Amino acid sequence: MDLTPKRAADSATEMVQVVLPNDANPLGFILGGTVMHLIDIAGAIACHRHTRTLLVTAAVDDLQFLHSIKVGDLIILKARVTCVFTTSLEVQVDVYSEETLTGRRQKTSRAFLTFVAIDRDGSRVKVAPLLVETEEERRVCEEAHTRRAQRLRRKSEV
Ligand SMILES: CC(C)(COP(=O)(O)OP(=O)(O)OC[C@H]1O[C@@H](n2cnc3c(N)ncnc32)[C@H](O)[C@@H]1OP(=O)(O)O)[C@@H](O)C(=O)NCCC(=O)NCCS
Repeated sequence: MDLTPKRAADSATEMVQVVLPNDANPLGFILGGTVMHLIDIAGAIACHRHTRTLLVTAAVDDLQFLHSIKVGDLIILKARVTCVFTTSLEVQVDVYSEETLTGRRQKTSRAFLTFVAIDRDGSRVKVAPLLVETEEERRVCEEAHTRRAQRLRRKSEV
């Protein structure tokens, strides 16, 4: 297993796709479940790029949909690893809509997901550390530790 520390920039992922009628509800807006699916995929890709292991989604923090995204718009998902723990890591996924004709962009959601690295037998495996290089990255990682404590507390209440 390669445990060489990696930068968040090395695994940062951007996904762009056009919202098609098949993704939408009868009002012509993308389904919340479709957005959640894309968030999971974008987050997983960034974490795979960081860990180069198999992964399972352990948790998705609460999710808000601030604006609807209509058929014909672009949906853009930007994922970056915020913090690495021992066998788990947190990723932030920001979601934007973009009008194809005007380029107007709006942030529609922000999600934090936790993935756990596993091997083919399902045993947990260690994750390469995150190289934290800037003040902003340090702050984001500290905040991730706070979120992790909160979600483990919530898990114990389930
Ligand atoms: C996620 C899962 C592997 C955790 O298993 P577990 O035995 O409870 O976990 P452990 O206590 O061994 O913890 C393993 C790591 O996961 C983290 N973790 C476990 N549950 C977590 C949760 N709900 N939220 C955040 N982190 C969690 C732990 O903090 C630990 O991290 P660390 O090694 O970095 O400190 C297990 O619950 C599972 O397989 N769930 C189903 C996953 C799934 O099917 N997802 C959807 C499809 S991919």
